[in-house]
Amino acid sequence: MSPAVQDQRFSDTLVFFVNGRKIEDSSVDPECTLLTYLRTKLLLTGTKLGCGEGGCGACTVMLSRFDPEQGTIKHYSANACLTLVAAVHGLAVTTVEGVGSLRGGLHPVQERISRAHGSQCGFCTPGMVMAMYALLRNTPRPEWHQLEQHLAGNLCRCTGYRPILEGFGTFCNGSDVGCGREKCCKLSATNGDSNGFSPNGFSNGEAQGVLGDEASALLHAADLTTYDPTQDIIFPPELKLKPHLHQQMLKFQGPRVTYWRPTSLPHLLRLKCHHPEAKLVVGNTEVGVEVAFKNQTYPVLINPCWVPELSAVKYMESGVALGAAVNLSRVQEILKKQVLTQPEWKTRTFSAFLEILRWFAGQQIRNVASFGGNIMTSSPISDLNPVLMVSGATLTFLSHEHGERRLVMEQNFFTGYRKTIAKPSEVLISVHLPYSQEDEYVQAYKQSRRREDDIAIVNGAMRVRFVSGTSRVADLRVAFGGMAATTVMAVKTAKELIGCKWDEALLERAMTLLLEDLPLDASAPGGMVEYRRTLTLSLFFKFYLNVRKWLSTRVPALVVPLSADEESAIAPCHRPPFASTQTFQQVEGNDKRHHPVGRPLVHASAYKQATGEAVYVDDMPRVERELFAALVVSSRAHARILGIDETPALREEGVEAFFCARDISQERNRMGTFESDEEVFASEKVTCIGQVLGVVVATDPAVARRAAKLVRVDYQDLEPPVVTIEDAIRKESWWGPWTIAKGNLALGFASAAHVIEGEMRTGGQEHFYLEPNAHIFVPKGEDGEMDVFSSSQIPSEMQRMVARVVGVSRNRVVVRVKRLGGGFGGKESRILGVAAPAAFAAARLSRPVRITLDRHEDMLITGGRHPFLCRWRAGVTTKGVFTALDVRLYSNGGCSQDLSPTVMQKAMMCIDNAYRHSNIRVTGYVCKTNLPSNTAFRGFGAPQAAMFAEDVVTTVAHTLNLDPCQVRERNMYQEGDRTHINHTLERCTIRRCWEEVIANSDLHIRQHSVQKFNKENTYKKRGLATIPTKCGIAFDRVLNQAGALVQVYLDGSVLLTHGGVEMGQGLHTKILQIAAQVLNIPIENIHIMDTATDKVPNTSPTAASISTDVNGMAVMNACEELKARLKPFVKRDPAGTWKTWVRAAYSERVSLSATGFHRIEEVTDFDFDTMSGQPFHYYCNGAAVTEVEVDCLTGDHTILRTDIVMDVGQSLNPGLDVGQVEGAFVQGVGLVTLEELRYSPEGSLLTRGPGAYKIPGFQDIPCEFHVSLLKDAPNPLAIFSSKGVGEPPLLLATSVFQAIKDAVGAAREDQGLGRAFRFDSPATAERVRIACQGPFVRKRL
Ligand SMILES: Cc1cc2nc3c(=O)[nH]c(=O)nc-3n(C[C@H](O)[C@H](O)[C@H](O)COP(=O)(O)OP(=O)(O)OC[C@H]3O[C@@H](n4cnc5c(N)ncnc54)[C@H](O)[C@@H]3O)c2cc1C
Ligand code: FES
Ligand code: FES
Repeated sequence: MSPAVQDQRFSDTLVFFVNGRKIEDSSVDPECTLLTYLRTKLLLTGTKLGCGEGGCGACTVMLSRFDPEQGTIKHYSANACLTLVAAVHGLAVTTVEGVGSLRGGLHPVQERISRAHGSQCGFCTPGMVMAMYALLRNTPRPEWHQLEQHLAGNLCRCTGYRPILEGFGTFCNGSDVGCGREKCCKLSATNGDSNGFSPNGFSNGEAQGVLGDEASALLHAADLTTYDPTQDIIFPPELKLKPHLHQQMLKFQGPRVTYWRPTSLPHLLRLKCHHPEAKLVVGNTEVGVEVAFKNQTYPVLINPCWVPELSAVKYMESGVALGAAVNLSRVQEILKKQVLTQPEWKTRTFSAFLEILRWFAGQQIRNVASFGGNIMTSSPISDLNPVLMVSGATLTFLSHEHGERRLVMEQNFFTGYRKTIAKPSEVLISVHLPYSQEDEYVQAYKQSRRREDDIAIVNGAMRVRFVSGTSRVADLRVAFGGMAATTVMAVKTAKELIGCKWDEALLERAMTLLLEDLPLDASAPGGMVEYRRTLTLSLFFKFYLNVRKWLSTRVPALVVPLSADEESAIAPCHRPPFASTQTFQQVEGNDKRHHPVGRPLVHASAYKQATGEAVYVDDMPRVERELFAALVVSSRAHARILGIDETPALREEGVEAFFCARDISQERNRMGTFESDEEVFASEKVTCIGQVLGVVVATDPAVARRAAKLVRVDYQDLEPPVVTIEDAIRKESWWGPWTIAKGNLALGFASAAHVIEGEMRTGGQEHFYLEPNAHIFVPKGEDGEMDVFSSSQIPSEMQRMVARVVGVSRNRVVVRVKRLGGGFGGKESRILGVAAPAAFAAARLSRPVRITLDRHEDMLITGGRHPFLCRWRAGVTTKGVFTALDVRLYSNGGCSQDLSPTVMQKAMMCIDNAYRHSNIRVTGYVCKTNLPSNTAFRGFGAPQAAMFAEDVVTTVAHTLNLDPCQVRERNMYQEGDRTHINHTLERCTIRRCWEEVIANSDLHIRQHSVQKFNKENTYKKRGLATIPTKCGIAFDRVLNQAGALVQVYLDGSVLLTHGGVEMGQGLHTKILQIAAQVLNIPIENIHIMDTATDKVPNTSPTAASISTDVNGMAVMNACEELKARLKPFVKRDPAGTWKTWVRAAYSERVSLSATGFHRIEEVTDFDFDTMSGQPFHYYCNGAAVTEVEVDCLTGDHTILRTDIVMDVGQSLNPGLDVGQVEGAFVQGVGLVTLEELRYSPEGSLLTRGPGAYKIPGFQDIPCEFHVSLLKDAPNPLAIFSSKGVGEPPLLLATSVFQAIKDAVGAAREDQGLGRAFRFDSPATAERVRIACQGPFVRKRL
């Protein structure tokens, strides 16, 4: 054994501080992440687990480190899910609990995100708070762009980001909550009469608006607590006084992994020599993901961060040498400084690095990920490697046996997929980045699905040197990532262009050569082959123009200057400063405490969510003898199960049991929503990848998960799986069809001036609630009783399922739901299959069992929004008025029915969107495929229907050369019209919303400026779309009911329970407002603890935008009953108080608890045969105008502006309703632009986790975002004249899709191609680029 390994000076005690408290641990498991340690050992559950792969930011903490040499403290945000706890030795960790608390006082960061309505479900909130807090610790008055950059690593699925940005924006330099425009209406609004905030979560920040009876501010700077940095938690003095912790060498020995931390180079080299197989871990952003999600185990880890040579920075004549462990944020700082202090020509390569680092991951990753780690990972899409390769960077390696080796990073450095020429025992010590030369130009590019925090599809770097004083190429380097198994250099292109002049001929030649240099097989991994090949040419074209522009100032006589049009090709996509307004109608009077309805109260849990004190299921402390369940799922899409062997799993220490179909009776094994077509455990065959086969229960979640992977399953493949809708159509594999028919289709077509047909497809969507599925089953030991704590939108269905699987009646099972970290339909029916195996295990073992899915499992198992295909034929007049419409809809239902038939039926009922059809036939097929069953998702089929309806109108308009707005108006419903399902429209506000949004958005003026822009620009195009919406609100007849229980205690406090679940939408807040108003008591007196099946039985799912309508009425009902009972006491003692009346009633033996109930009478189920029934209670209308800009060379788009007018009736709470409008809209933006679920031909979901599946981030929302709630539009059919709002605004994202299509249409028009073309959703960069066509696409062909 080498001396390094024997060295006794290696300490085995981990020492660090958390929120000022010292932690010393001599038995730390080096596999343990900081997140697991915080949550399970220190019980600090404020820090959340959203993904485990650094992609969501929910786990953000602040790390602080003392630099003894500089005498400074560095604070930085980091993802606790990837940081190994072993790596925080000698550091101070601050979690959300350390920042502020309800009892000790909120930190301004926590206060502002809450007061700005920036916390809905709250699961992302602690991470947001910590990202902002870390920024403020370094920069107390940040610039707006710093704010945007520091939040790029944090995702929110609920809010649409606007309120978070604006809440945090109050910390920014020059910001005063306003939108930044000189005449900002917020700044001119007089300050509101806030109550201030209270720990109960109530405050009232509405303004006395300047718009008459409309208010336009949800947050006021004057009301906010001032931020005083001196009040922040101090850095532990001990870490300053005893900096020896930094020099300490560490060795932590765990059961499976040994972790070393050498602090000198010789030690590091000897360790690596002794353990050539060891992984060096710096940021652990690559290794951590491999271990967590790619089944990798690395028994020896070496942390080289504290070896001085690896973090040294040397400034030399020739350039800068960076230690390999220097993190990327520091690299940014160093290079920025160089750019500012050195002559411009010397730092052109550095500028290229900075440009690429701007788009590299999120701040938390850049703060820890190392330069060397990026190189040595050797990813073919590494962002840094192309720049390193063209810049001639030199890498210095050292090993104990071979000494030093210097390698220039070039074509031969990478030897294969994730392989380099470095030897196993070699350590990368430093990277020398040379200065650029005077005649050189360097540029780097990155194209990804999402602009911020995403890995590249293709990236590239190019460097050209000219013969001095000429435009003749002396040297050229071109490197691309994403075009092969390694980063590659276009060697032939570079060689052949040497000596050429930088002109059109060179460009033409380069295009041909690049295609030869970068062949990409049609079956290349990663797909998008056409797009990737087109991109290489488009990016080179951009480089060509950039260089020409640069040359035109250096050798003006030798090059043609860029035309304005060419300039537009290289200008970054225009992103104006963020601006927003929210307009709503104010309620009269000032008595907010007793009359809170209609006021923008802060979400009742917002403050708790911001301090990390809000408890989600997996935050609940472990109970005695608790076990953890992990699911064993199918790896085949269509196969017979030949055998299951659990022996290897049972051998693992800590595993208690395994259950599968063998252990449960056939009858109890059956499950399903409408049809019992599913099984708890697959018994004979599997019909999708991800189907549950069994469950392993163990004493530790990690052990359970590991053991689940050891269960061996033998399969015999059956017929090839049916994956796509087209496969299913070919095989006629479907449920249905169902048909809606009205009028006379044949006559309608006969009377048409034109018959137009088309086809369109919309993709699926993952719910991506930030809180993954979590459930705890606690058997009570008596009479089969069981308590269930669940993240479920359907407590009563959960109760039914548990009772059935366990074999008891429902009265023995109590399901409790405190809150959900988002649901969106994903925590309805599909969670039953996740929960059932764990419930079964709990009952069999008579022990509590907890199950939490990791993000990848959750995405794989629980299905999502249905992909749809629409084939349509329309008859229209010459003015574009419909005479006939024949539509066939196909959805991909997956392997079981679940809710797919009802989703399809809703889509069929919404296919009209906002338009009259006298002669129509809609036929719906749910395709049965071998994918996990798809399910409910916000909108429930209506968004797909709206997308198709609007595409039909657009296509008709463009085919007939008409203005799409006019065609819309000509067909748009009016008051009294009958829909295609024979529903008469009353109080129809579609046209009001439409006209108002057109006026608000200055549509007509902007139409002209868009036309002008498009005329002047070839490579950038703008598009505009105006879209109305009509969305029916109701459940199936039976589910339109709700119950409530209101209990009054002698101290006057009220405990309220109703059947709805709080999942971020603010349902409990609205219910509290209703109860306070009806009882006429301060809202603080009322409390909602949870939703529980023993308080309110037989609850309907919380879904369909109807929960406030029905539960609110049930609560009102119960409160009215109580009020009536108290009335005599009020009469007897009019000067009394609520408390004295309650006491008096008690003394007179009057019951102080009341149940309430409500059902919607009007709704009846729709009969497809007779075309009768009233499936909707009322309609929610709205309209949106969106303008986008598209980069026709890359396919990127920017949403320049969106205006929305939404009819929410008389808003119960404008703060929450605006939040629902914005949040739903941005979720819709994800659906129609970004989010793409991709499957292999074998039916395996390829896009698991936030790394592969992109939901919108901060930069994907409209640059200008104006939301207005329609005023004077009371709805007599719902509680306090309100309307449901959860789903309808999502449909307005269609405006983004149609605006992009409009922009693409303009690009096509330039090339003589038609504006009426097939364009499928989502409008990804790939789809946009290919649809734009243009020279480089044609070149490829
Ligand atoms: C959410 C997320 C986003 C990301 N975004 C991007 C992105 O936009 N662009 C991009 O290019 N990458 C991205 N990555 C990948 C990753 O962050 C980078 O590759 C990062 O630079 C790796 O550095 P690290 O210190 O974390 O590596 P680690 O995980 O610590 O190590 C990575 C590998 O490098 C080896 N290694 C590290 N240092 C040395 C050394 N000195 N000598 C020899 N071998 C060494 C390790 O043994 C290991 O094999 C992302 C990763 C995540 C999780
Ligand atoms: S949980 Fe760590 S980034 Fe998502
Ligand atoms: S509030 Fe952000 S994810 Fe729910």
